[in-house]
Amino acid sequence: MLSVQENMTVEFSASLLEKFAEVVSRYPEARQKSALLPILHLVQAEFGWLSVDAMDKVATYLHIKPIEVYEVATFYTMFFLQPKGKYVLEICRTGPCCLVGAEQIMKHLEDRLGVKEGEVTADGLFSWRGVECVAACGFGPVLQIGPEYTFYENLTEESVDKLIEELKQKAQTK
Ligand code: FES
Repeated sequence: MLSVQENMTVEFSASLLEKFAEVVSRYPEARQKSALLPILHLVQAEFGWLSVDAMDKVATYLHIKPIEVYEVATFYTMFFLQPKGKYVLEICRTGPCCLVGAEQIMKHLEDRLGVKEGEVTADGLFSWRGVECVAACGFGPVLQIGPEYTFYENLTEESVDKLIEELKQKAQTK
């Protein structure tokens, strides 16, 4: 079931609607639902996350039911259903990584960033969450950062601190 913790009213700009139309045009007539995934990616890129209002408006745009959007958005973990930080540190919490310290790294992230899993730091820069195996089991503990999904392997508390500082610097230069 979709858990609504936050909502955000959105308006799709003319340029975003233009992108939607281009995506829909790739599919046969009356098969506009096929454009759902790329359109959700466009919406998330524009607003940072997918609010219920945004998903409802996507449903209206594609002439489908809101539940058809929710079931897709809640299935894929790359979609965020609540606000997220500029950088989302996704740490593998599956068995092999836990055996080499993933849980300690998650605790360290919580302490270092001062936010619990899924929350956003006050400066809006960071959030973190545990994810299932990211297929780098021999190099754990490991975390990834989207949208490019850059991997950071063999993590230690020190390397995590260094990464956080580097990301803060990077944010200042952008
Ligand atoms: Fe962590 Fe596979 S168990 S990457």
